[in-house]
Amino acid sequence: MAKSRKEFNAGVIQLKQFWESKIDKHMEEVEKKSKPTPVGVASAIVVQLLAIGFANFIIWLAKPSSSIFSWHPTMMTLGFMVLMMEAIVIFSPWFSVGLGGSSHNGKVFYHWVLQVCGLVCAYIGLGVISYNKFINGYPHYTSWHGFMGILVCCSLAVQACGGIIELYPTALPFKVRKVILKRLHAFSGTVTFAGAMITLFLSLYSNWFLNQVSNVFLWTALAACPILILVIVIGQFGRNHISLMFRRN
Ligand code: HEM
Repeated sequence: MAKSRKEFNAGVIQLKQFWESKIDKHMEEVEKKSKPTPVGVASAIVVQLLAIGFANFIIWLAKPSSSIFSWHPTMMTLGFMVLMMEAIVIFSPWFSVGLGGSSHNGKVFYHWVLQVCGLVCAYIGLGVISYNKFINGYPHYTSWHGFMGILVCCSLAVQACGGIIELYPTALPFKVRKVILKRLHAFSGTVTFAGAMITLFLSLYSNWFLNQVSNVFLWTALAACPILILVIVIGQFGRNHISLMFRRN
């Protein structure tokens, strides 16, 4: 009985070592050897054009400073659609344009600078809408957009703490392998970003938006932007992190 338990434990350790070495090797490969492919470069360019086009349109529609509310769509779109999206796609091996062409440490630096700026915009946007509802006496978080939005903002705070831990892993009272932290951070970040894109999509159903955009083709084109961006970002996560499970060596 004791012998079979020992054999079992040894098997578990072997399996763990096997996966850890596979993960390390894979991460190195992804970061060093990946060459930009035409499809990859095209998707990196498409994602930027969609994000910038969408953000410009929403900001133009909102007319910042025309009202207190106008700062909500402006700051949220700028924070999530432009800054945070850039902070994520910078890690795509295909994204060799501009900042993405720098070393891994350089990318990490730009990633957290962009994330901090995005986070500041997001919380200003949240503060603005909360204040606007408060002074007008409207109830809070009653729509799907508002409910998803507050979940995304909470998740963002947790994600930011995760990012700080990843920068200073020795601050933790226990030891966690860096690669595990990396994977967790990438996974929860992709989930938070997915929540943000769904929230943006839901905002297009708000009375404010529907009162201004009644053309069904324009509405559909705008609604496609967060969805396409989300698909590309999930694809990046899959390529960098999940594809490893299906590799043979
Ligand atoms: C990912 C980006 C966004 C997030 C996280 C977000 C978050 C929120 C939250 C939490 C609320 C509810 C506040 C409360 O009830 O106290 C809200 C309300 C609102 N948001 Fe956003 N928002 C985002 C983007 C947008 C955009 C781009 C628009 C305009 C197109 C917009 C339009 C509105 C409107 C009209 C309301 C008030 C009505 C309602 O509660 O649904 N939001 N948002």
